[in-house]
Amino acid sequence: MMHEFVRVIDVTEIPDPGKTLVDVEGEMVALFHVDGQWYAIDDVCTHDGGPLADGELHGFRIACPRHGAKFDIRTGAALTMPAIRPTRSHEVKVEDGGIWVKLRDVATADGPSAHAVGMPQPSASPSPALASAGSTAGESASEAAASPAPAGLLCEDTVRETLKGVIDPELFVNIVDLGLIYGVTLTRSATDAVKHAISVDMTMTSPACPAGPQLIADTKRVLTQRPDVESVEVRIVMDPPWTPDRMTEAARDQLGIF
Ligand code: FES
Repeated sequence: MMHEFVRVIDVTEIPDPGKTLVDVEGEMVALFHVDGQWYAIDDVCTHDGGPLADGELHGFRIACPRHGAKFDIRTGAALTMPAIRPTRSHEVKVEDGGIWVKLRDVATADGPSAHAVGMPQPSASPSPALASAGSTAGESASEAAASPAPAGLLCEDTVRETLKGVIDPELFVNIVDLGLIYGVTLTRSATDAVKHAISVDMTMTSPACPAGPQLIADTKRVLTQRPDVESVEVRIVMDPPWTPDRMTEAARDQLGIF
C-alpha cells in the first residue's frame, strides 16, 4: 500500500531529547527527537505488544516498559531480548515548521538473533535471582530443596542441569539460564526404587510466547530420556511474570545485555 507523508505535530512541540505518541493514518507511532534529528517507529514492542512510546529513552535507545527489550529508534532494530524482531521504523521529514511521518509497510532492521545464532551454550549454575524466583512461585521448590536426595539418586540440581538441554528456539539460550524454571518437585516412585515423578513449574517470557508448546515438549523429552525418571508433568506459571532480571549472568553475556 502506498503511504503519504502526514503532518503530525509542530517542531516546537517536543524538546530534544523528547518523545511522543502520534497517530499516522490510524496507526500509533512513537516519535522521537534526539540530537536535532527526528525518528519514528511503531508504538509496538515485537515481544508482546508493549507500548514503546511509554518507555525510557536513553540516547537512541528506547526500552519497552513491559519487559525491558530495547530498540534502536533510528532503525527499529531489536537490540536486547526478550524482543528479537525489529519493529517498523518510518520516514520522517521536517517541513513548514511541522514534523511529517510516512508509514513503511514492513520492518527492515535485524534483531539480535542474527548474532545469537551459533554461540556456545552457557554453563553457569542458576543465579540468586533464579533461586528467589523458585521460592516465590510456590511451595514446591522449597519442599524439594528441604529434603536432599540420598547420594546417587536424582535430585533437583541434576534435573536443572538436564533442563539446560532445552534451548529457547528464538533466543538460543537454555531455559534454566533464561530463568524460566520456577520450581522442580521430585517424588519417589512407589514401585521403582531409583525412579522419580518430576513436576516442573515453568514460565514463558510472555503469555503469548509462540515457542511455548515446543519448550514444554522439549522439557518432557529431555527428562523422560533419563533412566531414573518415571513421569514428567510441566505446569505453566505466569505469576509472578518473567522479567529479564531472572536471567543468569551467562544468559546476559550470551544475549549481549550488560
Ligand atoms: S512487551 Fe516489550 S519486552 Fe515484552
